[in-house]
Amino acid sequence: MEINTFGVIGAGQMGNGIAQVAATGGLNVIMSDIKIEFAEKGLANITKILTKNVDKGKISTEDKDAILGRIKITADLKDMADADFVVEAATENETLKFKVFQDLDEICRPGVILATNTSSIPIGRIAAQTGRPEKVIGMHFMNPVPVMKLVEVIRGLATSDETYQTTWDLSLKFGKTPALANDFPGFIANRILLPMINEAVFALYHGVGTREDIDTVMKLGMNHPMGPLALADLIGLDTCLAIMETLYNGFKDSKYRPCPLLRKYVEAGWLGRKTGRGFYEY
Ligand code: CAA
Repeated sequence: MEINTFGVIGAGQMGNGIAQVAATGGLNVIMSDIKIEFAEKGLANITKILTKNVDKGKISTEDKDAILGRIKITADLKDMADADFVVEAATENETLKFKVFQDLDEICRPGVILATNTSSIPIGRIAAQTGRPEKVIGMHFMNPVPVMKLVEVIRGLATSDETYQTTWDLSLKFGKTPALANDFPGFIANRILLPMINEAVFALYHGVGTREDIDTVMKLGMNHPMGPLALADLIGLDTCLAIMETLYNGFKDSKYRPCPLLRKYVEAGWLGRKTGRGFYEY
């Protein structure tokens, strides 16, 4: 299946990263958000990162201009009618994602694959919102998208072999290494990562250590590139809570209960780097 035009729904930290790697991989990209200002902000972030890469001598100015020239932004979902493959990277909210998939199913041509960057919502549940469940798949990028090598590819019960192969090949085209996960809440990455982060929040909550000591132990003791609390701030505490809720509700197992301190921070609007305050101040 030939993919020339790649649609990205959502221009936030995941969406604009995905748009950047797709355009760098040579595809034409349409990046949409609910307001054009949000899409412009996403594009400004891509421009900033590419400019840094030019300064570092990693790419030429011509490369940068060519990549940017391949990205079109819009606030009209109907523009996805031109896309050959769409990945949704909207907020981690089930109701919102369901609506996006219902709309995309109407807008996109019948053969078009509708992928989701959901970090934990079962693919089958999203696929059931469409009349093309065999064309629905998980394509889960890691944050920061331009840096992280992994794409977790998640097959739903109904996902066809062709949809799977196209998504796998596209991940390789973007310079990523795909890994296959089956469709269970949290898949592989967040089933393992989020309980670790949640436990770090419990350790803080119980006073086992300060935020710095908890992060230092995991950074220097386990050779993680950053501590779990700093990583939670990078991911977004609202996203962390949403993933823990999905694990908890999906498995009905108390080992996935979100830490009350995590919920408290989210309720206070301390969502991490994006709001300037999470476990750390930015
Ligand atoms: N966008 C683009 N590039 C970025 C970036 C960003 N947001 N942040 C850092 N970089 C680049 C830097 O420009 C730098 O590039 P060069 O090598 O060309 O100079 C490189 O990444 C390394 O950055 P730094 O030197 O500033 O800092 P670092 O070495 O500490 O690396 C890091 C930063 C890559 C974020 C690293 O700390 C790391 O790998 N952290 C863990 C990230 C992680 O675990 N991500 C997964 C989160 S889970 C997820 O995403 C799934 C989910 O569903 C929740």
